[in-house]
Amino acid sequence: MAARVISIRPAEDRDRRLLALLLAAVAEERDGIATEPPIDVNKQAADWPLDGTLVALSAGEIVGALRVEASSLGFGQIAMMVAAEWRGRGVGTALVAAAIEWARARRLHKLALSVFPHNDAAIALYRKFGFAEEGRRIKHVRRANGHLWDFIEMGLLL
Ligand SMILES: CC(C)(COP(=O)(O)OP(=O)(O)OC[C@H]1O[C@@H](n2cnc3c(N)ncnc32)[C@H](O)[C@@H]1OP(=O)(O)O)[C@@H](O)C(=O)NCCC(=O)NCCS
Repeated sequence: MAARVISIRPAEDRDRRLLALLLAAVAEERDGIATEPPIDVNKQAADWPLDGTLVALSAGEIVGALRVEASSLGFGQIAMMVAAEWRGRGVGTALVAAAIEWARARRLHKLALSVFPHNDAAIALYRKFGFAEEGRRIKHVRRANGHLWDFIEMGLLL
């Protein structure tokens, strides 16, 4: 399917439920993100930190989201997701570009993130923007099935 026009804007209060539902759907994949089911959608929606969350929209529908958690130490930690049916069409690219702009405007000096080593799409996306691999945390994350997954740490100086 051809790419459609994507717009990016800061998350608003009315986005809470759709953000929580998107997180729940991506968590169900048990693959790219650390969060696994079950997700309490109501709680997740209520607790969602809007500041630093950017949403990607197509025809008014949320198709992806990225959150920059700004640390008082000057860096921002990124987490992101794109709806499965929208992947590979530039949504992630648009979100990371907007996050870099957002972080620069906030005078953060660096963006950082953790990614699972098997997550080829995410690693390619981050490398495209100049993120460098800074290290690897061995058997860092315990999955619900008991498996222990490494985290690759990546960073981009702004
Ligand atoms: C990782 C993720 C956010 C990427 O979003 P996306 O919208 O598919 O990304 P894009 O379409 O902008 O593609 C970005 C780049 O990734 C690469 N890429 C995309 N899909 C790929 C794949 N399946 N394998 C390898 N590289 C891939 C391409 O190099 C592409 O850049 P290019 O098209 O300019 O060459 C998305 O796959 C996702 O939400 N996955 C599940 C959740 C997740 O893993 N989040 C990240 C946790 S660290």
